[in-house]
Amino acid sequence: MADLDRVLVLAGGLSPEHEVSVHSGRSVSEALRRLDVEVQVADVDATLLDRLTADPPQVVFPVLHGSAGEDGTLREVLELVGLPYVGADPAACRLAYAKPTAKALMAARGVRVPRGVVLPKSAFHDLGAPALLERLADRLGPTLFVKPDRGGSAFGATPVTGVQDLSAALVSCFAYSDSALVEERVQGTELAVGVLDTGDGPTALPPVEIVPDGGVYDYAARYTAGRTEFFCPARLPEETLDRAREAALTAHRALGLRDLSRTDLIVTEGGEVVFLEANVAPGLTETSTFPMAAAAAGLDFAVVCRELAHRALLRG
Ligand SMILES: Nc1ncnc2c1ncn2[C@@H]1O[C@H](COP(=O)(O)OP(=O)(O)OP(=O)(O)O)[C@@H](O)[C@H]1O
Ligand SMILES: [Mg+2]
Repeated sequence: MADLDRVLVLAGGLSPEHEVSVHSGRSVSEALRRLDVEVQVADVDATLLDRLTADPPQVVFPVLHGSAGEDGTLREVLELVGLPYVGADPAACRLAYAKPTAKALMAARGVRVPRGVVLPKSAFHDLGAPALLERLADRLGPTLFVKPDRGGSAFGATPVTGVQDLSAALVSCFAYSDSALVEERVQGTELAVGVLDTGDGPTALPPVEIVPDGGVYDYAARYTAGRTEFFCPARLPEETLDRAREAALTAHRALGLRDLSRTDLIVTEGGEVVFLEANVAPGLTETSTFPMAAAAAGLDFAVVCRELAHRALLRG
């Protein structure tokens, strides 16, 4: 193994997911330090480019969630600077981050995706909200799910039980993105499936079943201790879990992802696997599903982080 001795973990960022990213960054840096890798942690700010040039690390390990971190911007900058980094390249990030695009690619590969409509904020101004809202409910049914067409940590994402709640859900969605993805609400068991590739090709980790106490896996349910129960192994038939893993691998390959990813799915009562989205920078905090799944697969999180950084180093 080539010597890996200087890794820069990038965490924080300006997105609403700043706090989560800081926690992910802490987990990764502490894990690598346990293996005697020299780690520095930096945020994305006006000093970053100078720092990367003046004192370049061997490898960058970005754990930035939300825009810039996941939409390809940061990785484009790392390419410009010429530093190797862990994770998907900018083009793959752009595909995965745009949920309607990712859904279209998955649908083309035969994976079920929620029926949905993408509408920019301007459409509601230009065409009149009431008429559009009515048609949305006619098309997708009264039980809907509204979320930003790109984003994370369920910010601006709201379940809607009737057309009367639709406009409030859209207002909260438009606080995070100029375009809304209005979907049929899929009922069932939520799974997060990590995919890891430390050099032998992508492998799907054991799916993690997510059971939020209020039924909705929103920001509070994600990051408040005790608000969500996680089951790994998930309490679904093995055959269903195999299809969930297959869907996550399909997403990883179809979107051209690299090193690690996490695909969010819902399994319906009938056992059908529905793709919601794929993440290029999955949460790596102590309560995140990716490390949980790695542990269930018998992997040491610190060793996984080191192997990912090492793989990036070899690429560089
Ligand atoms: N069509 C849908 N039907 C039912 N629930 C949904 C639907 N879309 C999203 N959800 C719920 O909302 C949550 C957030 O949605 P999604 O995973 O698409 O967005 P996100 O904010 O990017 O999440 P993440 O933090 O995982 O990146 C999901 O974990 C799921 O609980
Ligand atoms: Mg998600």
